[in-house]
This record gives sequence, structure tokens and C-alpha cells, in this order.
Amino acid sequence: MAFIAVGVTGGIGAYKAVEVCRGLQKQGHDVVAVMTRAATRFVGPVTFEAITRRPVITSQWKPGMNADIEHIAIADGIALLVVAPCTANVLGKFANGIADDFLSSLYLATRAPVLIAPAMNSNMLAHPAVQRNVETLQARGVQFVEPGEGYLACGWIGRGRLAEPADVVAAAVRMLGTDAGINAASDAGAVDSGQGSVLRGRRVLVTAGPTLEDIDPVRFLGNRSSGRMGFAIAAEATRRGAKVTLIAGPTRVEPPVVDEVVRVRSARDMHAAVLQSAIRADVVVMAAAVADYTPAAPAGEKVAKTDGPLTLRLERTPDILADLGKMTSRATGVPLLVGFAAETGNATAKAREKRTRKGIDLIVANDVSRADAGFDVPTNAVTIIGSDEEQDVPVQSKERVAAAILDRVERLIRSRAATPARA
Ligand code: PMT
Repeated sequence: MAFIAVGVTGGIGAYKAVEVCRGLQKQGHDVVAVMTRAATRFVGPVTFEAITRRPVITSQWKPGMNADIEHIAIADGIALLVVAPCTANVLGKFANGIADDFLSSLYLATRAPVLIAPAMNSNMLAHPAVQRNVETLQARGVQFVEPGEGYLACGWIGRGRLAEPADVVAAAVRMLGTDAGINAASDAGAVDSGQGSVLRGRRVLVTAGPTLEDIDPVRFLGNRSSGRMGFAIAAEATRRGAKVTLIAGPTRVEPPVVDEVVRVRSARDMHAAVLQSAIRADVVVMAAAVADYTPAAPAGEKVAKTDGPLTLRLERTPDILADLGKMTSRATGVPLLVGFAAETGNATAKAREKRTRKGIDLIVANDVSRADAGFDVPTNAVTIIGSDEEQDVPVQSKERVAAAILDRVERLIRSRAATPARA
């Protein structure tokens, strides 16, 4: 049984949240309802109180609410925060860190996984501002239940209707890892509650995004990495209870909330930051697209154009993974090293060769020639390659691919702990 907070915001679908609470209770979970002021205009708090058999939280300012800083107490105690329906307004608050009522403060204060079921008019849902907020939250590891299509309360027909309560409950149950079918399929990237994760308390270092190599003060060499893959891994490791340091190149996508975020620009900066942190790490995952070459002599002033061609001389950047692979503590298998191999042909064969050459434990072969995988898309398809086993992870969200990668990392940690050390 898990303790779950159900956030209810001000949309016509608020009445369906009653069914969500009941559905979660039927699965054996304990539910507390948190209503925004707007939600109380659609459904009375007494309805939720009767269903959940708990006081409903409707305001941060009710007397008694601050004696034990209620939103922090609930934030610490819950295994999951479900928000159904979630309006565009509340999505925007979550994405931008605005904490002006109980629910938005709870979102910021909790480390529990978050599931959002949006509901709004179809034009609002399609608006770039809302889509950007959704992307920001997804990059932080927040999961979504897709809104349905049909008649909307505003009279329109389109996408934006709150998903069916049964679908919201099923998604919540999947996230809690209490669905037997999903648990059995955990190698395919399903998520569990993180309670039993061997990553709990371990230090995980993740790199993400591109590096930019300056040609002069206004120009650089870069690549199309958005940071999403590394961010998803950092968010998932945090959800599993790890202490996460995220070292990221410049990205437009917001990084997830983790213990520490270090921003770097060039491959050389990333090399220094990673080597400094890796000493304390139990696991290092290099998802960043690190430049292999950098201008040998970046110009101090903007390079003026001439009529003739321009020749740039490039030199090799330090290979961060290969340097980690040579670390003396590798004899103990710590830190466990996971690399990626972004390839446009024969990805698996090239990745196998890279894993051996760089002396690392696992490599994630990423065929970036596919339109639905690799750089700057929300989905990925990879093969996770170790010394003993290769596992295909078919195309799915980067969040689920991240879960599959960390499932494999966990298995490796467990199998090493079970293998007696050699004399
Ligand atoms: O950020 P997204 O838009 O979500 O895209 C995700 C991704 C495509 C960037 C990601 O899935 C991925 O494949 N990352 C690795 C990209 C890469 O640099 O691959 P590579 O084959 O060139 O490098 C192999 C490994 O060595 C990588 O783990 C890389 O981080 C590391 N490396 C590379 C160069 C270098 N100088 N030092 C390194 O440590």
C-alpha cells in the first residue's frame, strides 16, 4: 500500500478525480486529496473527504495547517503525486517553479514521482507555451497521461478532455510498480517506486547535452544534442533515491531537479568537471555528445570574413570516458561506467568495439540515423551492451529508455555484489 496525494485543479473534469481516488483506493492505496481554490468551485471538498476518509487540503493558510509545515510533511510521506485534472495554469506553475498555493508548493517540495493528467481546451493544449511547459516537466521526469479526444465542456470537439479515470489509475499503478505485468516487464523500461532500488543512497554522475567549441567570441562548433536523454537518466536515478550530479553542456531544455547541476561549455570543461566528480561516484553515465575535435587556436577577436575560403585547424579533445576507463580504482569496478555510442550505421558492432576500447562496463548503442531516435527527439531506441548480454530497447520515450538503462545498471551492481571477490 502506498500513500498517494491526488491534486485536483479547476477544470470541469474535477468530478472525475473522485473516481481516480476511488480507483487508487480499490488498489489498496491510501489517498489524500489536495484541491486548488478553483477546483472547489467545481466539486465540494466534502465529496473527496467522504471518499478518502481524510481531511481534504484546500488551502495553505487554514489554521493548523502550518503547525508541522503540512506541505513538507505530506511531500516527505507520499510515494506518488497524481494531478488530475491538471489545468494549463497549474502546468505553467509547476514548470516555472511558482509556489503560490498548497498544491504548487507540494510539487516543489516532494521528491516523489509525479503523474499529470492534463485537461483543457484543444487550442490551449496545442499552444506553444503549454507544450513548452509539458516538455520542461517531461525533461524533469514527470509522466503524463494523454488527454482524450471528444466533446469538451467549452462546446468544442477535439483533444484536451481529461483521460478516463481508469487510465489515470492504471498509469499511477504502473509508476508505483505494483502492477505485476509491468514489474515482469521491467527490463523494457517500466518504472517502480524506487523504494527497493540498489541505487538508493548511491552517487550517480550523469552527463548530458552537447559541448560547444569556440572558434571566436561569436562562433562555435556544436551538435544537435538537446540534453533530453541525459536529463531523463538523471531524473530517473533521482527517483530511485540516488544522489545525482548532472554535468550538462548548454541546452534549451531545462534540467531536472537533482542534487547538483554543473553547467559546462566545452569538452575540456566537461572533462575537468567529470574527473573531479567521478572520484566520489558509484556510477557514471556519459550521455553527453562530447565534441571529438576543437579549434586548435580559438581567435580572441571575431574572425573577419575575406573573399577566400577559411581553414580551421582542429585538435582532438580529451576522451573523458577513456580517461575514466583508465582510473586506477577501476580494479574495484567502481565507478561503474556507462557510455553511449551515437552511430549512423552498424551501431551495435561499433558500440561493442567502443566498449572494449574505452574499458567501460556498459555501452548504449544509439542508431541516430532514425528519425524517432537519438538527437533532439523525445523518443529513443537503443541496444544496451555489456560483456555478457545485449538487450534491445525498442523505440519509446526517453524516460522509459532511461529506466531500462538504470534497470540494467542495477542488475550489474547486484550481480557484482553477489559474486565473491577474487583472492
Ligand atoms: O541529448 P539528446 O537530444 O536527448 O540526444 C541523445 C544523444 C543522441 C546525445 C545520446 O543518446 C547519445 O548517443 N550520446 C552520446 C553521443 C556521443 O558523443 O557519442 P560518441 O559515440 O561520439 O561517444 C562515445 C562515448 O564517449 C559517449 O558516451 C560520449 O559521452 C563519450 N565521449 C565522447 C567524446 C569525448 N571526447 N569524450 C567522451 O567521453
